[in-house]
Amino acid sequence: MPSVSDTLTIKGHQLKNRLTMAPTVKFGWAGPDGKLSDRHVAHYIERAKHGIGLLCVEATAVTPDGRFTDGHIGLWEDGQIDKHRLVTDACRELGVVSLIQLNHTGNVTNPAIGEAKGPSSVPTRSGVSREMSIDEIHAMQQAFISAAVRAKKAGYDGVQLHGCHSYLINQFVCKTTNLRTDEYGGSDENRARFASEIIRGIRNECGSDFLISVRTVGADPDLASCAAVAEEYLKAGCDLLQVSSGINEPEDSVLHPGENFTKVNALGVRFHEIFGGRVPVSCVHNIFTPEQVHAFLDKGLVDLVDLARAVLADPCFPEAVLSGSDYVRCRNCPRCQYGPFAKDRCPATILRQKAGRSFAD
Ligand SMILES: Cc1cc2nc3c(=O)[nH]c(=O)nc-3n(C[C@H](O)[C@H](O)[C@H](O)COP(=O)(O)O)c2cc1C
Repeated sequence: MPSVSDTLTIKGHQLKNRLTMAPTVKFGWAGPDGKLSDRHVAHYIERAKHGIGLLCVEATAVTPDGRFTDGHIGLWEDGQIDKHRLVTDACRELGVVSLIQLNHTGNVTNPAIGEAKGPSSVPTRSGVSREMSIDEIHAMQQAFISAAVRAKKAGYDGVQLHGCHSYLINQFVCKTTNLRTDEYGGSDENRARFASEIIRGIRNECGSDFLISVRTVGADPDLASCAAVAEEYLKAGCDLLQVSSGINEPEDSVLHPGENFTKVNALGVRFHEIFGGRVPVSCVHNIFTPEQVHAFLDKGLVDLVDLARAVLADPCFPEAVLSGSDYVRCRNCPRCQYGPFAKDRCPATILRQKAGRSFAD
């Protein structure tokens, strides 16, 4: 059974332990130019300093119209590369593997940012989306590939494709948002094709040792179909699977029947049963204590534990898991105070700072 402090080598990139930082977008921290801000740089370097094995920088738009807001980062042009080197250089010095998540919002694009377009014309929260033509699909795939090339130039060890949480890649996989009858719709293989061709393109452009991870859906419409989609990603060259929720499968805190963990955690565990040994698999969601981390890793339920809010609340959480030191626990606020609906500052961050443990937010 793996232990949390065991190393894991993927394509020659050694993770010093089994803890990974999940992507968490920082709304409003960037300017309209989509460049990383000093605040981002300080935030990520702080997270890299305290024991995490792999750090994944937040959802990063591959085109300007794929951003969540106009205060959100992108890698759609070369001028956006430079600042990332501060993060990747620090990660390299600290022995942390670095990824950046690539995304397009597709049919949930904010009307203030761009047109809502996706695999099919379907009702969305702001109207009806427009179906993308084949030429547009190919141009969008190229935008992901070009962003990955920029990520490589910026010094990242690899990229993570955002394939869940209702964004464009997820929209191609999901049967209720993809009604196409051409080669990008219908069967599991066809619905996976949009991302699989991106993976192949990135592999061609960025080489065999560049890590390609996919954050994919675990049960929308069902486990078997999602596993078949992930199988296509593996055939295309995916090196690491992180499993989370999809469009019709919200990320709630309901416990998986018969288990002491959430339904979203269970998706990672099921994927590990299917793909374990072939590709590393992580789980995520509501993991806030060292005991929870150990419960997954010590029983070999997954290869890696992905942490989002626990390391937002306290960058030292990985050290607490590894060596039992003190940490401030995430309060699991209904709306994370780092998120788009944040009204105040993160309460855990305030507590940590009051205790004299002041780090870059
Ligand atoms: C503030 C905030 C921003 C997030 N941004 C992203 C993102 O950029 N990409 C992504 O795939 N998930 C994003 N998520 C989801 C997290 O990566 C993670 O899946 C979710 O918070 C559950 O994990 P946790 O319980 O460890 O926080 C975000 C979550 C939060 C709270």
